[in-house]
Amino acid sequence: MFKIKIGIIGGSGLDNPDILKNRTEKQVSTPYGNPSDVLVLGEIEGVPCVLLARHGRKHDIMPSNVNYRANIWALKEEGVTHIIASNACGSLQEDISPGTLVIIDNFIDRTISRKQTFFDGEQGHPEGICHMPMEPALCEHTRRVILETAKNIDLKVRDGGTIVVIEGPRFSSKAESNVYRSWGAHLIGMTTVPEIVLAKEAGLCYAIIGMATDYDCWRESGEKVSHKYVLQIFQQNVKKVISLLLALVPQMAKENWDETIRNTKELAEGSVIAPNQ
Ligand code: ADE
Repeated sequence: MFKIKIGIIGGSGLDNPDILKNRTEKQVSTPYGNPSDVLVLGEIEGVPCVLLARHGRKHDIMPSNVNYRANIWALKEEGVTHIIASNACGSLQEDISPGTLVIIDNFIDRTISRKQTFFDGEQGHPEGICHMPMEPALCEHTRRVILETAKNIDLKVRDGGTIVVIEGPRFSSKAESNVYRSWGAHLIGMTTVPEIVLAKEAGLCYAIIGMATDYDCWRESGEKVSHKYVLQIFQQNVKKVISLLLALVPQMAKENWDETIRNTKELAEGSVIAPNQ
């Protein structure tokens, strides 16, 4: 059975490496520049993990400036087979109240200024052109194990949801928020694209634990989204994400991932058009 190693990308409020045992820090650089921060290597119940703070441990990198390519490249070079990303996001649906965890299964891209591929024709980068299929958007096997683990520990999570990814750093206007609602989206965030796309290109199994922190600004009454509010609600509920992660990692190590990992890698490799010789 293939041995797994799990990359954990911590979003706003989850950049605390205490969840890992036997921690060491590793500074790395990549052909795309430096990742957001050091890689924190360690273990959860003997399973090797690599933690990376998406916005840096000082939280000083805004969504458009996160070096997503360096982050994913660094995790891949470190040998991770899976990435579990945590995301604070706004809710676009009444029944997804702040504090709800959502195991996202699709996305709508509204970003405008981000590099979405490793295959950009630049020197020192992989050759070819990559046309990566986006369905299924997330690793279904990993999603299933997250859902099973949540059930085992009696943690309520929502199975599936579409996240709209905006450029930010500003939040949406009410009119924009209502347009996204009319598209049937469930959540709104700023970082899932291009992280998800690059993880796919890298041939990694990628899943997201999303946490709704606010109702964005589409509701007539109640609190409108603000950064302070997002962090406050995330901190109030972060224990849920940590308990899920701590149960998930050992559960993942019990699974046979051979076929999933092979298929994920083959899809990535098969999506590259090599240059004519
Ligand atoms: N992250 C948390 N809440 C958000 C919102 N309402 N819009 C975009 N990103 C968010």
